[in-house]
Amino acid sequence: MRKDVRILLVGEPKVGKTSLIMSLVSEEFPTVVPYRAEEITIPADVTPERVPTHIVDYSEAEQTDEQLFQEISKANVICIVYAVNNKTSIEKVTSHWIPLITDNRDKDSRVPLILVGNKSDLVEHSSMETILPIMNQHSEIETCVECSAKNLKNISELFYYAQKAVLHPTGPLYCPERKD
Ligand code: GTP
Ligand code: MG
Repeated sequence: MRKDVRILLVGEPKVGKTSLIMSLVSEEFPTVVPYRAEEITIPADVTPERVPTHIVDYSEAEQTDEQLFQEISKANVICIVYAVNNKTSIEKVTSHWIPLITDNRDKDSRVPLILVGNKSDLVEHSSMETILPIMNQHSEIETCVECSAKNLKNISELFYYAQKAVLHPTGPLYCPERKD
C-alpha cells in the first residue's frame, strides 16, 4: 500500500491554480489569493481513497526554476492547469509544460498527468475539442476535467481524479464532460 499521494499543480500564471486549492479547502471562492498556497496535507480519513494527500502549488512569481524542477521530480501526479478562456494557456500545455515535466523526471518514473481546464464559468463552449487530440498524443495524460474555482464546479472531482490516477492508474480512457 502506498503511504501518501503528492499532487502538484502547474500551469501558466493566472489560470487559477491557487484559487482551485483554496476553493477546495474552504469550499468557497477566495476573492484574494496569495501567489502561492502553503502546502496542504489532507488527512487520510477525509480523502475518498483513505490516503494522506499533499497538495502543492506552484507560482513563477515566488519560485525559481530549480524549485519547480524539484517539485516535478517529487510529485506522484501533476495537474497541468489552463484557463478555458485563454488559448495561450492551452497551447503552453504541449509547447512548454509536458516537455518540461518529461525533462525533469527519471527516464523510468512515469508520472500521471491530469489536464485541468479552469474558469469554466466564463465560457459557453467546452475546450474538449482542443484537449482530446492532446490526450491522444500523450499517453501519460490520465484524464482531463473542466472546472471552476469560482462556482466550485468539479473541484472535489479534480482532486479525486488526481488521487485515483496514482492509486489506480487506468490510462487515458475516460474524459468527463462538463456537468451542468
Ligand atoms: P499565479 O500564482 O500568478 O501563477 O496564478 P494562479 O494560477 O495561482 O491564479 P490565481 O489563483 O491567482 O487566479 C488568477 C485570477 O483568476 C484571480 O483574479 C482569480 O480570482 C481568477 N480566477 C481563478 N479561478 C477562477 C474561476 O474559476 N473563474 C473565474 N471567473 N475567475 C477565476
Ligand atoms: Mg498562484
